Amino acid sequence: MRIDILSAVPDLLKSFTSHSIVGRAVKSGIVEIYLHDLHDFGLGKYRQIDDYPYGGGAGMILRPEPVAAWIHHLTAERTYDEIIFMTPDAPLLNQNTVNALAIKQNLLIIAGHYKGLDQRIRDKYITKEISIGDYVLSGGELPAAVLADAIIRLIPGVLNDETSALTDSFQNGLLSAPVYTRPAEFEGMQVPEILRSGNHKAIEQWREEQAYEKTKRIRPDLLEDKNP
Ligand code: ADE
Repeated sequence: MRIDILSAVPDLLKSFTSHSIVGRAVKSGIVEIYLHDLHDFGLGKYRQIDDYPYGGGAGMILRPEPVAAWIHHLTAERTYDEIIFMTPDAPLLNQNTVNALAIKQNLLIIAGHYKGLDQRIRDKYITKEISIGDYVLSGGELPAAVLADAIIRLIPGVLNDETSALTDSFQNGLLSAPVYTRPAEFEGMQVPEILRSGNHKAIEQWREEQAYEKTKRIRPDLLEDKNP
């Protein structure tokens, strides 16, 4: 898979692409990530990429020309399955969306900055808009990293068996059951006996029950689709 990320501050994403699981996936060639600076197609001597909003109001808006120029440049080389804009005024990201994106070949992610992106770019070029939550960050770089991370860990070969994505929270529509490691007793608290029993069937059942109970307690909204 190839992921291109367009940003006003691409350096913010450098360490994300070079460390840990994502860094390893890049180094092993499973995924290619390219960071692009919107200023490369900025206007004039100062490579301007933002401007005041028509109609007044607070904050600056990303001008359409640098974004369009980057999109033309990249799409001239290859076809993108989705051109995604990260923005808080969009549908919320969930595991279903991530799963659907993880089987694509080429993704272009645009990280917004300032107060927003000129609506004409959204109307003409963006094929998918995604928010990572009902709160506002100062830029779309961290949301772009969140999305890319969630996608990349699903690509075959990125995780090993021990970290397999199949047992993640949400993959079965439920939150994960609690997990424990050594020591068996910590500050007077014991690891549940069943996890030390060696009875795999009973452990599996315990985990399912715990996952269901935890989901009911913390995120009952996730069960709404499941219950008849
Ligand atoms: N940019 C700023 N806040 C955001 C959010 N919550 N989701 C996606 N992009 C954003």
